[in-house]
Amino acid sequence: MANVRGEFSSRIGFILAAAGSAVGLGNIWGFPTQTANNGGAAFVLVYLILAFSLAYPAFMAELLIGRYGQANAVTSLQKLSRTLFQKRFAFIVGFGGIIFASLILSFYGILAGRMMSFAIEPITQIAGLDAISGWVVTDSLIRNLFFTASFMFLTLYIIRKGVKEGIEKWSSRLMPLLIGLLICLIVYVFTLEGASVGLNAYLNPDFTRTLDPNLIISALGQAFFSLSIGTSTMVIYGSYISKKENLISLGAQVTLIDVSIAFLAGLLIIPAMYVAQAQGVAIFAEDGSLISGSNVVFVVLPSLFSSMGAVGSIVAFTFFVLMTIAALTSSISMLETPVSYVVERHNMERKKASMIIGGVIFIISAAIISNVEVLLGLVITIATEYGQPIIAMLACIFVGWIWHRNEILKELQQGNDDVENSFFWKVWPWYVKFICPTAIALVFIHYLNT
Ligand code: PHE
Repeated sequence: MANVRGEFSSRIGFILAAAGSAVGLGNIWGFPTQTANNGGAAFVLVYLILAFSLAYPAFMAELLIGRYGQANAVTSLQKLSRTLFQKRFAFIVGFGGIIFASLILSFYGILAGRMMSFAIEPITQIAGLDAISGWVVTDSLIRNLFFTASFMFLTLYIIRKGVKEGIEKWSSRLMPLLIGLLICLIVYVFTLEGASVGLNAYLNPDFTRTLDPNLIISALGQAFFSLSIGTSTMVIYGSYISKKENLISLGAQVTLIDVSIAFLAGLLIIPAMYVAQAQGVAIFAEDGSLISGSNVVFVVLPSLFSSMGAVGSIVAFTFFVLMTIAALTSSISMLETPVSYVVERHNMERKKASMIIGGVIFIISAAIISNVEVLLGLVITIATEYGQPIIAMLACIFVGWIWHRNEILKELQQGNDDVENSFFWKVWPWYVKFICPTAIALVFIHYLNT
């Protein structure tokens, strides 16, 4: 049956699935890289403030739209609309998000494929397959195509099975493992020389830098990407949440998990950068900037793992497998976004819709791979720097200006008796109405001006 809607079977199932969408390469790769690029602790501080004060309210707006509509993003938004104009606006916001989720998946698959190749490399080493091991980590067209396709297949395999059997089952099993390994690695890093300098760089902010507009903008973009906002993804995940759940606390918990994992990843990778530097690997230039730019995580981690001696290969393997999994719980949420739309609006069978959309996205990935230097950066910029902020801003406008306050309250009251007197209800409606759209618009205007 194509059109029986899924629902997360348990509270913890949703938390893990939504946290699975949020936690991904953005946390473990993007956040530490951005932190190192933007003055360390000052970035961390601004990121934390923005994640809770702007990203969380926008995240709640999207979840709420989905839970109310119990449908894909376009249908859910249209259920809130009264006039024809609003319905058209709803289509643009919902469909726009779906397009950006698909575009994000097209480059995410390439990066996640690279993670997979790093997971396979230690096995080929242990097995003594030197030729393969070299091929696996050397950037080449064929390697990139191969691993991107493999990653896409994994994503498709899970998505074809639907909400309960696919998304929820996998997310609940794998997320806790990732957190456990991160903590073990942090403990290990702090036994090494140089880690305390890194800790200082990570936690001791230079407050004068916190006002740097570029830093603020990068931190906001990172917070949006990390919570998967502005892609219709959280609308569709919201639609799978039962009406018995307390949405306010669910959303807060997912935000906390997402931010904590980014914070933990930074606590591992920033000190590891200084450890690597102390061991003679060139990480920072004289002026403190990163030598290998956004690839630094790929340089630092292997060097950390090789310092572990014999167990290093096993740890490297485990780490990159878990990274691939973290990417997978995000990629399934991206693919679910267009798939649920086509299944519900065009009555297509789920398996067929998954295959067709997965295929189209892979073709876009292949096009990007054919000219990585130009296209990768371009697609990332279009989807994350323009697309996500605009769609998130429009979703906030929808909730703040089109949706009736009383209806919002009624939706929030399902699964929570005490909304009216809560701090959330006193602040959040104003927030989504005025502060979120204004702040996001400012970010966007800045992009246009630079
Ligand atoms: N939040 C995911 C990450 O941090 C990326 C993502 C973006 C997932 C948009 C879904 C939608 O890696």
